[in-house]
Amino acid sequence: MTKQTLKSAKAFAPASVANVSCGFDVLAFAIHGPGDIVEVSIKDTPGVEITDIEGDGGLLPKDPPVENTAGRAVMAMLKDLDIEDKTGISIRIKKMMPLGSGMGSSAASSVAAVVALNKLLDTPYEKSDLLQFALQGELAASGSPHADNVSASLLGGFTLVRSQHPLDIVKLHVPKGLVAAVFHPNISISTKNTRLILRKSVQMSQAVQQWGNVGGLIAGLYTEDFDLISRSMTDHIVEPARSILIPGFDEMKESALELGALGFSISGAGPSVFALCRSEEDAKIIKKEIARILDTFNLLVEAYISPINLEGSKSVT
Ligand code: HSE
Repeated sequence: MTKQTLKSAKAFAPASVANVSCGFDVLAFAIHGPGDIVEVSIKDTPGVEITDIEGDGGLLPKDPPVENTAGRAVMAMLKDLDIEDKTGISIRIKKMMPLGSGMGSSAASSVAAVVALNKLLDTPYEKSDLLQFALQGELAASGSPHADNVSASLLGGFTLVRSQHPLDIVKLHVPKGLVAAVFHPNISISTKNTRLILRKSVQMSQAVQQWGNVGGLIAGLYTEDFDLISRSMTDHIVEPARSILIPGFDEMKESALELGALGFSISGAGPSVFALCRSEEDAKIIKKEIARILDTFNLLVEAYISPINLEGSKSVT
């Protein structure tokens, strides 16, 4: 039984970088700055409705709410509590990050929605238990409920999806001084489509390289060994297929690595790209070069430079 005394509650969930080069669908980290705020309120009549979405340019679905990531996540939680027939929830979404950017926009909406609803209903769940509902939101957006973005956005830090069925998420150690620089060229790519272009199987030799790199990256995080992190940030499987959709990708990567990035790859499904850096100074130098390269393609870039966001989602007032 849930106790409900509040009339409304609000939460923030940050943007996130999924895959982190070698860890397709299993690694992600959260960043500071961009993200979503979702407010949920009790309404008189049963059912879920989305009353307002700000900052989406009218692009996100509102009705039926099951087609919206936040709406679907809220419905999943009400169903699990067995109160969906008698509870009325209205949802307001404020997007403070670009859509279709590869920065976990759909995850941020669904995570903020379930964190806010949990508060509204007097915390029936632990934070980590909210993941299962936020994942339902990812299903609405991408057709496949991958847990990488939602884990990082919900829990913060660097996360590993050790298993999706059953859900087993590991929050990894984050070395001091690690800085993320995320660059969003002003084009949009659908995660659903960029998942469809991926091959369904990989060669054993590629798989061996890939799991060596995933292990190396995680070991590098724990031992705070930036050189090991750098050597491990190589993806022979997904990046080659997707990077052709991103103007100037090879040039950006080469320049970022020359300018001292530990690694450079696609953020989630793209088109955003990211670099992990040893310092904010390195990140700022790389930002100038990325902006110069994208300008040659007549593309503007939004850059987000921040330490890893260790806190993740949170209630706000
Ligand atoms: N791991 C997912 C993908 C993240 O790369 O398709 C999508 O945001």
